[in-house]
Amino acid sequence: MSLGCGKMDSSDDGDGTLSVSVTRQDTYPVVIGRGRIETLPSLVGRILKTDSLFIVTDENVGELLLQRTADLFSESGMHVQSVVIPAGESSKSWAAAQNVIDALSTRGAKRRTALVALGGGVIVDMVGFVASVFMRGLPYINVPTSLLGQLDAAIGGKTGIDYDGSKNLLGAFYHPAAVLIDPELLSTLPEREIRSGLAEAVKVGMLHPPLFAKLENLAPGAVNDIEDLAAITRDAVRHKMRLLRDDPYERSLVRLLNLGHSFGHALEAATEFEVYRHGEAIAIGIAVATMISWNRGICAAETKDRVLACLETRGLEISLPLPAMEATWQEINVIRRIRNGALNEVLPVSIGECMVVDEIAHEEFVSAVDSLAHLTIPAQVVHKGSTSLLPTAPEPSPSASPAALSCRSYRSRSTAASRQR
Ligand SMILES: NC(=O)c1ccc[n+]([C@@H]2O[C@H](COP(=O)([O-])OP(=O)(O)OC[C@H]3O[C@@H](n4cnc5c(N)ncnc54)[C@H](O)[C@@H]3O)[C@@H](O)[C@H]2O)c1
Ligand SMILES: [Zn+2]
Repeated sequence: MSLGCGKMDSSDDGDGTLSVSVTRQDTYPVVIGRGRIETLPSLVGRILKTDSLFIVTDENVGELLLQRTADLFSESGMHVQSVVIPAGESSKSWAAAQNVIDALSTRGAKRRTALVALGGGVIVDMVGFVASVFMRGLPYINVPTSLLGQLDAAIGGKTGIDYDGSKNLLGAFYHPAAVLIDPELLSTLPEREIRSGLAEAVKVGMLHPPLFAKLENLAPGAVNDIEDLAAITRDAVRHKMRLLRDDPYERSLVRLLNLGHSFGHALEAATEFEVYRHGEAIAIGIAVATMISWNRGICAAETKDRVLACLETRGLEISLPLPAMEATWQEINVIRRIRNGALNEVLPVSIGECMVVDEIAHEEFVSAVDSLAHLTIPAQVVHKGSTSLLPTAPEPSPSASPAALSCRSYRSRSTAASRQR
């Protein structure tokens, strides 16, 4: 294992200019397997020359897993301390990052102290961010405990926190020293969180037909079987790695893995990160992108029906509440500005193929949202040559139901949207 190994060269251009070339290479293991949490200390011992660690976790995960994980390290003779922060997206914040930084600073963290991110995507993203800036970079190990964290957030080195109402505005590409994924840890994850994670699996599946087929063929409803979740995670992680291979630092800003994310992030921001789980918003974002694609004649009706049915069968809502529509559109304009004016929206062509379009017009967004809101999904959708019956629509969670949303006031971003970034 080599963490941040690199090389720097310079040459004299002869006109008083020095050309500097820096290459950096990060190599690290991603261990996936049931029960592998027990091997965490030996993994850390093998790859890092440190005997001092901070486990950072949230209150929910801390209650379930902190003592056990800390004991594993202590039994291996390592000095372990912990920081516990509140659970939820609100901890992907400057304030939470500062709390962790304060704890590291006052409790003796050194240049080689390692951080262990034990939690869902929020912990993984926030701890990675802190690791990237503290003493110009500490090693960190991702131990994701939510499905979304295991199959998506812990992989790829994207770290970050939300700032000024915008998702992931602060952050860096900073890879972990190791990732340990133990699907057994999902046994305590609430059903709603499993569904949220499955939305990101559907996203990857839309770029990788075998995974999509796996998701389509599961029995309707929540997926409780750890073996099924482990298989989905393995597929999603492997395919995500393949997709990142040619552009690990997102230089092109055109990334198929952003499918559903402009609309999803905009909806999360429009509802102040309080209504939807990340995956729930992404499911709606995927549905909107799919509807736009179908309206443009890019994807066939069969593709649209399969995507919407796959999301619904997993118990995910697919319609963006009409009262949130304009606030979401304003947030899309904020995202467009951050991306230098082009939305670069990903639209499905077929299962296994997506394309990126520069722009989405307001009218086609409205038309797609409106169609989804009034959609009568056929009782039967045909996919993969077989006929599957859609389940009855899932009970929407009270906070996320369109009826509840109609009473909410939406954040007006007329000020934020006009802010220069
Ligand atoms: N960096 C990336 O590439 C990337 C990719 C996708 C998503 N994300 C980010 O991930 C975040 C969402 O992650 P998330 O959905 O995991 O949210 P989360 O971290 O808030 O976890 C969801 C909930 O599940 C609880 N939980 C986690 N593991 C548990 C377990 N084993 N048992 C019981 N409860 C458990 C948490 O305490 C929390 O309440 C978003 O901020 C999103 O932007 C990042
Ligand atoms: Zn996501």
